[in-house]
Amino acid sequence: MHSDKIKNFLHKKREANQSGGQDKILSQHEKGKLTARERIDLLLDEGSFTEIDALATHHYHEFDMQDKKFFGDGVITGYGNINGRQVFLFAYDFTVLGGTLSEMGAKKITKAMDHAVRVGCPVIGIIDSGGARIQEGILSLDGFSDIFYHNQLASGVIPQITASIGPSAGGAVYSPAMTDFVIMVDKLATMFVTGPEVVKTVLGEEVSFDELGGAMSHAKNSGVAHFVAKNEYQCMDYVKTLLSYIPQNNTEGPPIVLTNDDPNRLDSNLINIIPENSLQPYDMKEIIYSIVDNHVFFEIHELFAQNIVVGFGRLNGRTVGIVANQPMSLAGALDIDSSNKAARFVRFCDCFNIPVITLVDTPGYMPGTNQEHSGIIRHGSKLLYAYCEATVPKITIIIGKAYGGAYIAMGSKNLGTDMNYAWPTAQIAVLGSEAAVKIMNRKEIASAKDPEALKKQLVDNFTEKFANPYVAASYGTIDSVIDPAETRPVLIRALEALANKREKRIPRKHGNINL
Ligand code: HXC
Repeated sequence: MHSDKIKNFLHKKREANQSGGQDKILSQHEKGKLTARERIDLLLDEGSFTEIDALATHHYHEFDMQDKKFFGDGVITGYGNINGRQVFLFAYDFTVLGGTLSEMGAKKITKAMDHAVRVGCPVIGIIDSGGARIQEGILSLDGFSDIFYHNQLASGVIPQITASIGPSAGGAVYSPAMTDFVIMVDKLATMFVTGPEVVKTVLGEEVSFDELGGAMSHAKNSGVAHFVAKNEYQCMDYVKTLLSYIPQNNTEGPPIVLTNDDPNRLDSNLINIIPENSLQPYDMKEIIYSIVDNHVFFEIHELFAQNIVVGFGRLNGRTVGIVANQPMSLAGALDIDSSNKAARFVRFCDCFNIPVITLVDTPGYMPGTNQEHSGIIRHGSKLLYAYCEATVPKITIIIGKAYGGAYIAMGSKNLGTDMNYAWPTAQIAVLGSEAAVKIMNRKEIASAKDPEALKKQLVDNFTEKFANPYVAASYGTIDSVIDPAETRPVLIRALEALANKREKRIPRKHGNINL
């Protein structure tokens, strides 16, 4: 009888919709968490979700697992739209065996990822999982390997975004880490390779879940989290905002948005943001806000390595990636974390056809044994590599100090930057005047009758000769010295001029970035 078959089908469908059952849904809500299905509803345009593999179950019999079968098997997968744009997604379902990853769960996730890569649309992962399902042992571990493999295959082809909303333990953290952006929800998300119990056993350290692997720890200290959301609603807003700036895949440009901000808008106050005394700090973000359309700047990694600022803005409706030194933090010096942060951002922009604008005011790479011994050479050079590798339009503006290696690293001309501008306030030199004179004139100063007076005179001479943009402009290293008020129109005109940039490199398997 057909009607029996339909009844049976509807019964299974209802059961699948209930995931791990009412008790588990209640317990999920009591933990202050939404269910996977509620999260999907929150993220996608209404009515746009189509589920795949809703009736998948595990086929495992050890540890009485045959009695613990639930449709979906701990992860919900499918596709839908976000503001009209297609995405594939997978959402771990904590109500089913703690959202643990089984062989079937991994097959579902990688199937969704395969679809996303083939059709060329972003893939979103919503994480709330106890990690590898212990009962399935090697099958579960192999499942994770397969997900990592797919993360790598998708990398640079489609954007991959992680919304981390619950636990993410053990090797399970590495899949999110291989995606382009991680948003963690404060107080709900935790990510760690080994949990507090293991830390206590091995090291005798007492540490809470949140302190060890909570959203704030990863946003401030490790840099694993690009964004911290106050709650799940804000988390989904972050996903939507991110998508609004980036293309569907590596063959497309980012969406163009009508912003109605005058491309010729001048700002005569820009020059007043930077103090006369170049040793005084100022907030580089004020300059960024002034330049971008409608003063909207979407900052990424806001709490991590604050001595460099990265994020998206729009110029005449087109997405740009902005990298800028932040004199408010460590005087804008480059260190290990800021080099990693900026290098990864530049590489993302390059993967997805987003021009890079660099604003420079940095006294150099951070000195000291801590930085040297922790590998500032290894990490600092990643930034150089990333700029050299990027073939998207690259535009640099030197605003203040641009000294030594940091001048080079921050999108200097010979890293393949297309347009290099400087404000009249720019100072481009191997070293700051004081440091330069100390090295060049050490003996002379030491033997002078009045060493302080001589030093001051030499420093003033050096400053007058080199602490300006005109020597660089005379060599064409700076294409143009611009009136700060005109920064926005200058950038927009340059972006238009570079819109059809093509740059072909010698084909190779891949470069060997100094990791
Ligand atoms: C099997 C698991 C599980 C796991 C949780 N559960 N983790 N089942 N394998 N890894 C089950 C619980 O037994 C429970 O089942 C249900 O999921 C919900 O878990 P609770 O502990 O009740 O929830 P909660 O108190 O919220 O704690 C969640 C948790 C905790 C923080 C995730 O369960 C936990 O610490 N789990 C272990 C995490 C872990 O070490 N995973 C392995 C990491 S190694 P019932 O039936 O009671 O509801 C790994 C290797 C990957 O992932 C390697 C890749 C390279």
